[in-house]
Amino acid sequence: MIISVSGKGGTGKTTITALVLKTLIENTDKSILLVDADPSTNVPIVLNEKIDKTVGMVASELKEKMEKGDLSYSTSKSLLLEAWVYETIKETMRYDVLPMGRTEGEGCYCYVNSVLTSIIDKIASNYDVVLMDMEAGLEHLSRRTDKDVDIMLIVTDPSKMSLETVRRIKDLTQEVHIGVKEIYVVGNKFPFESKDYLERKIKEMGLKLVGIVPVDLNIINYSMEGKSLLDIPRDSPAYESVRDICLKIGILNEPRN
Ligand SMILES: Nc1ncnc2c1ncn2[C@@H]1O[C@H](COP(=O)(O)OP(=O)(O)OP(=O)(O)O)[C@@H](O)[C@H]1O
Ligand SMILES: [Mg+2]
Repeated sequence: MIISVSGKGGTGKTTITALVLKTLIENTDKSILLVDADPSTNVPIVLNEKIDKTVGMVASELKEKMEKGDLSYSTSKSLLLEAWVYETIKETMRYDVLPMGRTEGEGCYCYVNSVLTSIIDKIASNYDVVLMDMEAGLEHLSRRTDKDVDIMLIVTDPSKMSLETVRRIKDLTQEVHIGVKEIYVVGNKFPFESKDYLERKIKEMGLKLVGIVPVDLNIINYSMEGKSLLDIPRDSPAYESVRDICLKIGILNEPRN
């Protein structure tokens, strides 16, 4: 099962991703891979973890070595890259993180990218759930980073621009024929009273609003303190809302308590 979280910059993609992760950790035994697909690698910030190497870094390294002729003909580039990508995976007790990072430098990464895609597909197939925190905006759709997604969560906050981004993500998903099975919109930082209004707006776009996540003081405090969002109290309103959303989209059967 692959779940991606997208939306305009700053709407709360990483926060929602962290709360979905918390939901899965606390209520299921599923094996989880968290893919930080945002080039600015901010998942570690909300989870308070350190990342040493990203996939982008090792891909750049391979490309450089290929250009300099540093690799012998007998070296299998795809096996080498695969080994290096596996080294970037950060393992924790309950989930693993794959930090994509960005591919630095000029020139064509076509070969490296195509090898990379199959390596990542292979890694992803080892987990029950793959949760992807996407980069802001639409770029990832044209690069087909979210191909074969089962559930796409599009996060919007109460701004016209982020609602506009929801519409554009939906349109582009259809244009580039990304095989997304379900698309759901999450209204983040909305008061509960605005639910009906937002629901109508989202319906007009031909999409489903799956829930509203309120502004949550615990999230604000934990963010400012640099504490992991996985540790916010279970009765935090934003966490309760995300748990409800996970129930609705069918990735959670019944919460444990
Ligand atoms: N429900 C919420 N209650 C309070 N604060 C929130 C909530 N959701 C997000 N925030 C805060 O809003 C800011 C942006 O959230 P976040 O980093 O999750 O957005 P993003 O979409 O991942 O941003 P980027 O596009 O930069 O990756 C953060 O400071 C976060 O703590
Ligand atoms: Mg983010």
